[in-house]
Amino acid sequence: MNSDIVLRCSEITKSFPTTSGSGELRILKGVNLDLHSGEIAAIVGSSGSGKSTLLHIIGGLDQPTSGTLHWSGKSITSYNPEQLAELRNQHIGFVFQFHHLLPEFTALENVMMPSLIRGDSFSQASVRAEFLLDEFGLSERLQHRPSQLSGGEQQRVSLARALANQPMVILADEPTGNLDENNTHTILRLLFRLRDTENISIILITHEKEIARQCDTLYTLSNGILEKGL
Ligand SMILES: Nc1ncnc2c1ncn2[C@@H]1O[C@H](COP(=O)(O)OP(=O)(O)O)[C@@H](O)[C@H]1O
Ligand SMILES: [Mg+2]
Repeated sequence: MNSDIVLRCSEITKSFPTTSGSGELRILKGVNLDLHSGEIAAIVGSSGSGKSTLLHIIGGLDQPTSGTLHWSGKSITSYNPEQLAELRNQHIGFVFQFHHLLPEFTALENVMMPSLIRGDSFSQASVRAEFLLDEFGLSERLQHRPSQLSGGEQQRVSLARALANQPMVILADEPTGNLDENNTHTILRLLFRLRDTENISIILITHEKEIARQCDTLYTLSNGILEKGL
């Protein structure tokens, strides 16, 4: 495998049982995707087409029905839950449409969390978290709880948290879906800067074609198949 490929999805399928239990819903029907280092790939598709399902499988949050996933050339098919948790903690940063920050913790504590889970010391974790929040223009918001932050600020804290452990890949599921134009622009600018300065690879799910067009590669998920282009 080309060493430049950080992630390879081969013939990923996913079916869910129907609620009546008598059949199955085939959501993904053989998805192939190569993600290179420093590449931003956009995935568009109508609501219900399976974008989130695919991203969860890629990030080890859900299992495919069939198919294989390779991270840095290593198949994760036989990983146990602990190995998947380690993969997520060390190599993947997630950003979702709704920030999923822990409400009872401050911005600083939320961003420190992945590093503390990894086993970093309190001071290492806080230095990194403060650095990231400062980079994202939040140095005056370290002690704010999520409810005391605006939507754009909450998403910047989420992105800082995703970066806490210096991941190879960011998986972003409609990260600007809840934001106005200015805040959308800020988040996108930060993502592009991460690609340029840190060579981070990003999968960006969006339903906005204008955003997708700015990315390096662009895919549409439709009828369970991922195809290049809009
Ligand atoms: N855990 C689940 N059980 C059953 N059906 C599911 C489950 N998760 C998702 N689905 C179905 O899979 C389809 C794709 O969902 P999703 O991946 O969330 O779509 P998207 O993110 O593109 O809007 C939907 O029809 C949804 O109802
Ligand atoms: Mg979704």
